[in-house]
Amino acid sequence: MTAIPLQPPRRLVEFTLDGEPVRVPEGATVLDACRAAGKDIPTLCEGDTLTPKNACRVCVVEVEGARTLAPACSRRAEPGMAVRTDTERARHSRRLVLELLASSVDLSTTPRVQEWLKEYEAKPGRFGPDAARLNESPKVDNDLYVRDYDKCILCYKCVDACGEQWQNTFAIAVAGRGFDARIAVEHDAPLTDSACVYCGNCIEVCPTGALSFKSEFDMRAAGTWDEEAQTETTTVCAYCGVGCNLTLHVQDNEIVKVTSPHDNPVTHGNLCIKGRFGYQHVQNRD
Ligand code: SF4
Ligand code: SF4
Ligand code: FES
Repeated sequence: MTAIPLQPPRRLVEFTLDGEPVRVPEGATVLDACRAAGKDIPTLCEGDTLTPKNACRVCVVEVEGARTLAPACSRRAEPGMAVRTDTERARHSRRLVLELLASSVDLSTTPRVQEWLKEYEAKPGRFGPDAARLNESPKVDNDLYVRDYDKCILCYKCVDACGEQWQNTFAIAVAGRGFDARIAVEHDAPLTDSACVYCGNCIEVCPTGALSFKSEFDMRAAGTWDEEAQTETTTVCAYCGVGCNLTLHVQDNEIVKVTSPHDNPVTHGNLCIKGRFGYQHVQNRD
């Protein structure tokens, strides 16, 4: 029997990356090419399960002949283009983005950001003590997850995950303009009065920890959160016949949070409230 391919093979696009010829499948981004070539480009608003919004601009690169820097996460590779990832102009721009973010947002739970601040010699303090901050207490209004918008970089990933890119619930959006812009539910009501269905798909994509499991929030506050002591086990959700994959994060023999593999072709990292938060029965040993 002859196997029929479901999709035609993708053509390859050739271009130069930092002077070296590279080939990537048609439709791949410059960031895909950088990653394939082992180049470490910082990213914040990019997500492997979402269409990029180009909100943070920390991933910019120089494209020969282009007037402006290009966001690597969304710029598609084109035949014959010449891309430079580590020029002084690109580094200067990344440094400024990191300085602006770190001067106005609590990045203490953003993975890798301290490393990037050092690498780009960013000095967040140069805007002085009056740099605009939200200065808002974390919103702890339900037993499942916490919203700490002091840590929010307005990357839009949660809005996209809750909206048309995945969940289609549209419980959250960006409200306000300029310095007043913030993520909010309808009429800035409490989450419990909103359309939120507590799927936690917004937590899955949040790059800074602004959205976190209540369990993680409480453990961080108590000083007991320890990712190095955690194990991850991927299993199948037992609640219904869809059979979503769950990754259980376990610390001291207790499930402390649940994620889902992003490369699952059905769920792409998304879950419903039961799979994401309904794990207590597993550890009720009475
Ligand atoms: S938990 Fe789900 S429904 Fe609620 S805000 Fe997040 S993505 Fe939207
Ligand atoms: S809460 Fe998280 S995902 Fe949403 S905009 Fe802020 S940083 Fe991005
Ligand atoms: S990661 Fe590319 S613009 Fe944010």
